[in-house]
Amino acid sequence: MKKLRVALLFGGRSGEHDVSLMSARSVLNALDVERYDVTQVGITLDGAWLTGASALEQFEKKDFKGLRHFIPPTQPAAGAFYADESATLREIAALDVFFPVLHGPFGEDGAIQGLFELANAAYVGAGVAGSAVGMDKGIFKDVMRANGIPIVDSLLFLRAEIENELTIVIAKIEKQLGGYPFFTKPANLGSSVGISKCNSASDLGEGLMEAARYDRRIIVERSAGDAREVEVSVLGNENPQTSVCGEILPSREFYSYESKYIDGTSGLVIPAQLPDAVTNQIREYAVRAYQAIDCAGMARADFFVENATHKIYLNEINTLPGFTSISMYPKLWQASGLTYPQLVDRLIELALERKSQRDRTEYRRTV
Ligand SMILES: Nc1ncnc2c1ncn2[C@@H]1O[C@H](COP(=O)(O)OP(=O)(O)O)[C@@H](O)[C@H]1O
Ligand SMILES: [Mg+2]
Repeated sequence: MKKLRVALLFGGRSGEHDVSLMSARSVLNALDVERYDVTQVGITLDGAWLTGASALEQFEKKDFKGLRHFIPPTQPAAGAFYADESATLREIAALDVFFPVLHGPFGEDGAIQGLFELANAAYVGAGVAGSAVGMDKGIFKDVMRANGIPIVDSLLFLRAEIENELTIVIAKIEKQLGGYPFFTKPANLGSSVGISKCNSASDLGEGLMEAARYDRRIIVERSAGDAREVEVSVLGNENPQTSVCGEILPSREFYSYESKYIDGTSGLVIPAQLPDAVTNQIREYAVRAYQAIDCAGMARADFFVENATHKIYLNEINTLPGFTSISMYPKLWQASGLTYPQLVDRLIELALERKSQRDRTEYRRTV
């Protein structure tokens, strides 16, 4: 059997560069060498694409010596190339599928997916629209509202409003969203970067300004209050399947950047201890949300479940969730009977299936 040629992409320009290297290490370990021929492609923090037989290891050590520039295909039927010492382009045999293990801006937001679409390449995960809507907390919430999926009340502001009319903005939040605390968030980031929990008007002013450093558009949300954080993994294209649910036990006041990556102390409870009716409802909302934003391949859907009432709110969908072997996304599948290597195989199959769907689509009228 001919091996499938997989380009594994990692690193990237986002703040989640290092998390991506950890995810990619786990994926690389799981890719069966009997079935796949892997080309390692790292993207530096500056956005350079580099390839080499041990590119991942070199990225982990921040030693880029001897790596070659990788030139991704931008046209259908054109192969990928790398530049040798004399900057001559040499073709890499045609790649069958791209596996972007990139979190955050440029990797998870539709930008790189657009490049794969231009090249008519198969790639793992959601397409341009699904990635972009999953990433943008503002548009995402509007799509959820339109689909009757419960989310906490929120308002969206532009950076200019926050900079020029802060007192008006604060008054509007207090009037329309009710009492403190509120959460302030940049619309398009991840890993809790730029997110604050605001307990007073002065906190709120600071939180808005902080979020405005990271985006032009800022979301303010009512707090889900006394709630648990429950996540579910989704896998599939047209018929997405859900895993068992898992609960996050944040070690800090909320699931902040520090508790995600620095202390590493947040605990996972799998499966989450919840009544069946609640987990079934969560799984149903996850599938509806996945379909509403036209996800493909995989996503992790994150919910709040109020302690007193078990009322459910969808918080967000991550189209390229953390993917290390101890991350929630693969662990939920493991608990549902799918091992990490099986999951990786399935994602590649889904990428090829999605490409064959695309190949059937006509882009202009033919006579
Ligand atoms: N409305 C909210 N109510 C309660 N907690 C929240 C709310 N929004 C965010 N949080 C807390 O902040 C964390 C990060 O927020 P989230 O919207 O998931 O951003 P990110 O995309 O960075 O993961 C959540 O996991 C949760 O702990
Ligand atoms: Mg989150």
